Amino acid sequence: MQRIIFLYFLVNLSLVPPLALAGSSGDPLKGEAVLRDMGRASCLICHKISNLLDEKDQGEIGPALDNAGDQFTASELRARIMDARQINPDSIMPPYFSTKGLHNVARAYQGQTIYSAEDVENVVAYLLSLKEETSQ
Ligand code: HEC
Repeated sequence: MQRIIFLYFLVNLSLVPPLALAGSSGDPLKGEAVLRDMGRASCLICHKISNLLDEKDQGEIGPALDNAGDQFTASELRARIMDARQINPDSIMPPYFSTKGLHNVARAYQGQTIYSAEDVENVVAYLLSLKEETSQ
């Protein structure tokens, strides 16, 4: 019985959304800069954020993130950014904090994640700040 309880605990544990990656909570301003960085597979290639008026070529492959702070919790955003395949195994969204199951990665980038743990937390903090009442 004890073993069953332990297994149940393990299975559940793997379903719990990941906890904050970096020690402290993120900085939304830094997160905005990271998110805009085209050199690091910017979210804007596929998602629209209406607040960012100076970004002219925003993609529409994924849903707009205008109200991400109303729609998602920090854990949901973190899981999605770290590796969207956790939610949708066929997702075309790049895994920003995972190197698992990738193909044809250039040697210089092998074993490296797109974002650092701190970057993930900063981007999460920025997205949480996107709420209906703050959008233009
Ligand atoms: C190559 C395109 C692409 C890039 C780049 C991308 N995404 Fe996505 N994203 C998608 C697609 C497509 C979906 C729809 C669900 C799916 O297919 O996984 C999605 C879904 C999402 C969702 C859930 C939206 C909803 O309404 O359900 C969030 C949140 C999200 N992305 C955030 C981000 C963030 C943050 C970044 C940058 C760090 C990013 N995405 C980069 C393509 C992308």
